[in-house]
Amino acid sequence: MNSSTSVVPVTIAGTGSYVPERVLTNDELAKFVDTSDEWITTRTGIKERRIAADDEFTSDMATKAAERALEQAGMAAEEVELIIVATITPDTPTPATACHVQAKLGSFSAVAFDISAACSGFLYAMKIAKRLISDGAYSNAVIIGAEKLSSVTNWEDRNTCVLFGDGAGAAVLRRSNDGEGRILATEMGTDGRHTSLLEIKGGGSACPITAANAESNLQTLSMQGREVFKLAVNAMRTAAETVIERAGLKPDDIKLIVPHQANLRIIDAIADRLSVPNEKVYVNLDKYGNTSAAAVAIALDEAHREGRFKRGDNIILVVFGAGLTWAATAIEW
Ligand code: COA
Repeated sequence: MNSSTSVVPVTIAGTGSYVPERVLTNDELAKFVDTSDEWITTRTGIKERRIAADDEFTSDMATKAAERALEQAGMAAEEVELIIVATITPDTPTPATACHVQAKLGSFSAVAFDISAACSGFLYAMKIAKRLISDGAYSNAVIIGAEKLSSVTNWEDRNTCVLFGDGAGAAVLRRSNDGEGRILATEMGTDGRHTSLLEIKGGGSACPITAANAESNLQTLSMQGREVFKLAVNAMRTAAETVIERAGLKPDDIKLIVPHQANLRIIDAIADRLSVPNEKVYVNLDKYGNTSAAAVAIALDEAHREGRFKRGDNIILVVFGAGLTWAATAIEW
């Protein structure tokens, strides 16, 4: 599905994020799995990640991120018309985590649903919300990427457990008024031939968790890292180039690229392929690891609050995830 210029421009009126208090460092991880701070740092750039409390669910983190985004947008929870939560770690298979978020926010007029597009989910949600607002169906939306990946991590598998963390990020979208920024171009892609490269095998209808397979860790993430790496670089590069071209931008027009936070080497490779200097690429994976759908949303919020871009600047968001899925968005802030 390709994008076109919207009839009614849509702007991002506020961003917010939340990460749990508990910090898990590489050195702590190395105490219970055969790894080291040196290996994790040089191969990924990750130094630590956040781990949610046992009684802290995806919807709790999502709600806190949304509250901060609403506060920045100057909008009351009662005014929200649409809530989309992107997650692969919903509180429960059903109802949707977005329904829990609607109740916790007190946004009882809002339509709320989840989408599942792994690490690409936040930008998939952004495109859906943008279209629904520009078509006139709703005048605003809260989109959220939220994950409790610690609940689907195999803590004995060093190939994966060093990579992931918990957190949530959110954005408030609404019709753009004169002088405000707007979403310029969006792109989404999927290649279902690579479903097995990064997956949670069990817990769905294909492989329910039973007493017989309960010890097999089928409910946790498994990944073929090297293959994912190569595909990630190509897909993110192409998606970013597509929205840059569609928005009529040149590399010099771009203030900041905010990429999915999976691996510093992937991010460096993309900056290199796009001929964008590293200082124009936002990185916070050293603090949080890969938080899947939350990662780009948290990075967008932190970059925004740190003043890395301001009104009128052009920024590019670009993501990649299981599926395989990818997406990019060009925004005039
Ligand atoms: N600590 C120490 N050694 C580890 C390790 C860890 N945490 N994880 C793997 N290793 C070992 C491997 O067992 C392998 O050992 P071997 O050569 O004896 O078999 C060695 O390190 C190299 O493994 P390799 O898979 O080639 O490493 P890599 O350079 O490809 O880095 C990833 C591994 C996972 C960091 C990297 O492939 C990656 O980031 N891929 C993309 C993953 C991703 O982003 N997924 C999410 C997408 S949304």
